[in-house]
Amino acid sequence: AHKVIFDTDPGVDDAMALLFLHRHPDIDLVGVTTVFGNASIETTTRNALFLKREWGFDAPVAKGADETIDPSRPHAGWPTFIHGDDGLGNIGVPDTVDVPLDPRPAYQFIIDTVRANPHEITLVAVGRMTNLALALRHAPDIAHLVKQVVIMGGAFDVPGNVTPAAEANIHGDPEAADIVFAAPWKVVAAGLDVTTKTTMSRGFLDAMAEKGGADVELLRRVSDFYIKFYSHAVDDGMLVHDSCACVYVVAPGLFTVRSGAVRVVCGGLADGQTIQKPDGMSFGPSEWDGKVSQQVMVGVDADKVLALLARTL
Ligand code: BDR
Ligand code: CA
Repeated sequence: AHKVIFDTDPGVDDAMALLFLHRHPDIDLVGVTTVFGNASIETTTRNALFLKREWGFDAPVAKGADETIDPSRPHAGWPTFIHGDDGLGNIGVPDTVDVPLDPRPAYQFIIDTVRANPHEITLVAVGRMTNLALALRHAPDIAHLVKQVVIMGGAFDVPGNVTPAAEANIHGDPEAADIVFAAPWKVVAAGLDVTTKTTMSRGFLDAMAEKGGADVELLRRVSDFYIKFYSHAVDDGMLVHDSCACVYVVAPGLFTVRSGAVRVVCGGLADGQTIQKPDGMSFGPSEWDGKVSQQVMVGVDADKVLALLARTL
């Protein structure tokens, strides 16, 4: 089985991705680490504990970063209009959930777990990349001990979703994302290039909930607010961004990827833009020179991704 640490900011689409990881027979979910993003760190961590209680997964939950890796970056506020004030579609998550947290900060949990399982851990990161960047800063050796890093983040050949240039997870902490792409480990990025092609209709979700029992029924309730937000882009449905990264772990063949170094624009008009220099293309000397070649997803068999999600949930 694939040993996965899930780094997340639940988050409606994060919740679906988490249930997929919990339920998939070839995935061993060894930890959940939280990060600020869709809501504050207090809220995303409370939500992870709430989902642990509701769904009964064993993996420990460790609380992560509450702000960008460069603390001088101005704070942008929470996208409550997308994920609700409670981060889970305003379903009324209790203020506190009586489930214990791992005592370590997320970055330390990542470092310890990677060192204890050399070459076995897949990091799936679907929020700001802050915890991963902090783990690298405290323990650069882990880059060589991680099996792979699969992220949901970036907008490579398509517009962003926060600005025309930038996608939310990268825009929310561009310096952290640049550190993660530059590290000598294998990163595979599911950006908006593939996630905006993977739309799930309300009817599809309803049908999953009918067969999936109470766990999927909770997802259905959580998703209503998010589906309403997505009405500008999707006809009575939603984008299941974070699930794309999780599906890649067990079914990489459903995606096509392109290799090349990735840099993140930090500051200015295009703050948070992700730019890949495709391998084999020649340019003049540039900021991409000497950087590790990473994988960017550029194509997806969306019907098969949705079918795998439905089978697993
Ligand atoms: C990403 O931003 C968040 O709203 C989602 O959870 C996803 O991780 C999409 O840009
Ligand atoms: Ca997310």
